[in-house]
Amino acid sequence: MASTEDKPANKENVSSWKDSIYNPRTKEVLGRTASSWALILLFYLIFYCFLAGMFALTMWVMLLTLDDYVPRYRDRVPHPGLVIRPNSMEILFNKSDPLKYSTYVQHLESFLKRYNDTEQEKNEDCPQGEYFLQDDSEDMKKKACRFKRGSLSLCSGLSDTFFGYSEGKPCVLLKMNRIIGLKPGGDPYINCTVKKTDYPVMMSYYPSGGRIDKMYFPYYGKKAHENYVQPLVAVKLLLTKEDYNKELSVECRVEGSDLRNNDERDKYLGRVSFKVKVVE
Ligand SMILES: *[C@@H]1O[C@H](CO)[C@@H](O)[C@H](O)[C@H]1NC(C)=O
Ligand SMILES: *[C@@H]1O[C@H](CO)[C@@H](O)[C@H](O)[C@H]1NC(C)=O
Ligand SMILES: *[C@@H]1O[C@H](CO)[C@@H](O)[C@H](O)[C@H]1NC(C)=O
Repeated sequence: MASTEDKPANKENVSSWKDSIYNPRTKEVLGRTASSWALILLFYLIFYCFLAGMFALTMWVMLLTLDDYVPRYRDRVPHPGLVIRPNSMEILFNKSDPLKYSTYVQHLESFLKRYNDTEQEKNEDCPQGEYFLQDDSEDMKKKACRFKRGSLSLCSGLSDTFFGYSEGKPCVLLKMNRIIGLKPGGDPYINCTVKKTDYPVMMSYYPSGGRIDKMYFPYYGKKAHENYVQPLVAVKLLLTKEDYNKELSVECRVEGSDLRNNDERDKYLGRVSFKVKVVE
């Protein structure tokens, strides 16, 4: 009978399959003896310990060479991006409805806390129009130049606590990203334009001319330059009735310096675009 003939062959198969896990004759587990397994495990243990040790050693050497005050690997100083406050690419509000613009006003107010005139009294009154260079070797802590929010005049939130939003002439604050060691050449200023309107939209800039003083450069880094505040430029869009209910595209650029503001690939380098729409 076929079934009885098959049985021995079947038994043989089962035992050889079992043997491959544990073979009692040779005392092999998965084809290796206990001492062979022990050697392999020992090898991998030593190998991984060695790898971990190498990693820890290189990290340690790397960290030793890092200086908290000066970033080490810096071949060239990058160009800064330009950002706006309130931090929104679309500023839309109803000038007659405080609920619609209160988030912008609150945002500006909290942003300007650091620029409080009383707070800034603690910082240096630096000479205008010159870089505020500080000795690297001396005391590691750097002094910061004063920037009082009062210099933003009508956009300071002091005389007009609504930053112009309640009268439909909103203020927008601009600042350049902090870049360690950046020293802009020339006399940088902010220039904003409203695109695609047949008539020019009037604006006023604070401080006057939208100027960014050189005294706020260079920046020495977060740890060394603790009290540093970025210089601000406020632009007040003097909108009239004709400008309401329209989406206006505003573009602001840093001009008058060697800072890049027309990079094809990065549209935030030295410039920023945002939309403004006011309804009443
Ligand atoms: C703006 O707010 C005022 C007052 O709440 C309201 O009368 C007016 O209809 C609003 N305008 C628009 C376009 O929603
Ligand atoms: C900001 O300055 C005003 C006076 O100019 C002061 O009353 C207020 O407490 C200051 N706020 C902060 C957060 O320092
Ligand atoms: C501001 O930019 C506009 C458009 O690019 C230009 O026509 C104008 O002359 C600039 N103004 C200043 C003061 O640079």
